[in-house]
Amino acid sequence: MAFLSKNFLLRTMRLLHRSKSTVNIPQKGLPSFVKIVEVGPRDGLQNEKSPVPTDVKVELINRLSDTGLQVVEATSFVSPKWIPQLADHREIMTQIKRYPGVNYPVLTPNLKGFDAAIEAGAKEVAMFIAASEAFSRKNTNCSIAESLERGQSLVNAAKEANIPVRAYVSCVIGCPYEGKIDPNKVAEVAKKMYEMGCYEISLGDTIGVGTPSAMQEVIRLVTQEIPIDKVAVHCHDTYGQALANIYAALQMGVSVVDSSVAGLGGCPYAKGATGNVATEDVVYMLDGLGIQTGVNLQKLIAAGDFISKALGRPTMSRVAKAMSSKL
Ligand code: HMG
Ligand code: MG
Repeated sequence: MAFLSKNFLLRTMRLLHRSKSTVNIPQKGLPSFVKIVEVGPRDGLQNEKSPVPTDVKVELINRLSDTGLQVVEATSFVSPKWIPQLADHREIMTQIKRYPGVNYPVLTPNLKGFDAAIEAGAKEVAMFIAASEAFSRKNTNCSIAESLERGQSLVNAAKEANIPVRAYVSCVIGCPYEGKIDPNKVAEVAKKMYEMGCYEISLGDTIGVGTPSAMQEVIRLVTQEIPIDKVAVHCHDTYGQALANIYAALQMGVSVVDSSVAGLGGCPYAKGATGNVATEDVVYMLDGLGIQTGVNLQKLIAAGDFISKALGRPTMSRVAKAMSSKL
């Protein structure tokens, strides 16, 4: 037994030594830097059963801002009747500390939300349109075509105000109501949002059913319409495929990844879907691949620990769990 564990230790040390020598050299074909878009305070907290106090949300955003993240999606200016969890959007935007170099986009479904967001001090917004007709109706009470019309007036207003607009396509692989989604439909919606003036299109696997090949097929079709450096991936982790899907996206040249600290979240209009992939797990994987993110993993884990304790449940991040048990 003692012999076995000595051998095991020696092998592990050799492996660690070998991996150390390859650190900071990204594999051929992978990006050297990945921008992480932290969506926990919005996508994460929009789905909480019990209300989360505003000061807890503000503290979370401030802690995330201090990790080196460049983008922290702060809240949504959607109807409080639809998403009561984020009804304190105005307070959030006026109470957070704005860190230099950090953007705080907010989700806006229509002009009303856009106007309120700007009035509250937002400097960037994100709109969202589904590639599924049924999800569009459940989530925003209108068809895809109507969403595109709303989106166009929002982008027009944003252009006038000099506000950048990010865009999500949701249900890029599957829909809770329609099942499998045609990737050509995703490419069509992505193209329209790009042509209307959105600067980045995030492909949302809203219910986390994708696998690497499905993800690569969507990206292949989308990038026939828009440049790869304008594409982001937004993976929920319901089936445990999110990291694999992100890796598959990196291999296609994607260099923007959305994720949620402590793996918070889900969508109230996609029952059973879990949170986004945990930001801690993404940063750990990217660090291991030698890809720069600018994010301090220890500070990130501390922010995840803060919100998990505030919510009274364990983190969904495997990396945070492993590191806190000193594995
Ligand atoms: P509607 O009921 O059709 O809206 O909702 P309406 O225009 O008929 O207005 C009804 C009432 O809502 C009116 O108030 C409006 O003033 C008010 P009333 O006269 O009854 O008092 N209203 C608003 N109030 C505040 N802010 C607004 C706003 N707009 C109207 N912006 C609407 C249409 C789009 C507003 C609604 O369906 C909605 O808010 N939906 C948002 C749902 C949502 O946030 N879902 C989760 C985010 S999407 C997601 O999670 C996916 C993503 O993460 C990517 C991925 O994972 O794939 C992005
Ligand atoms: Mg989402």
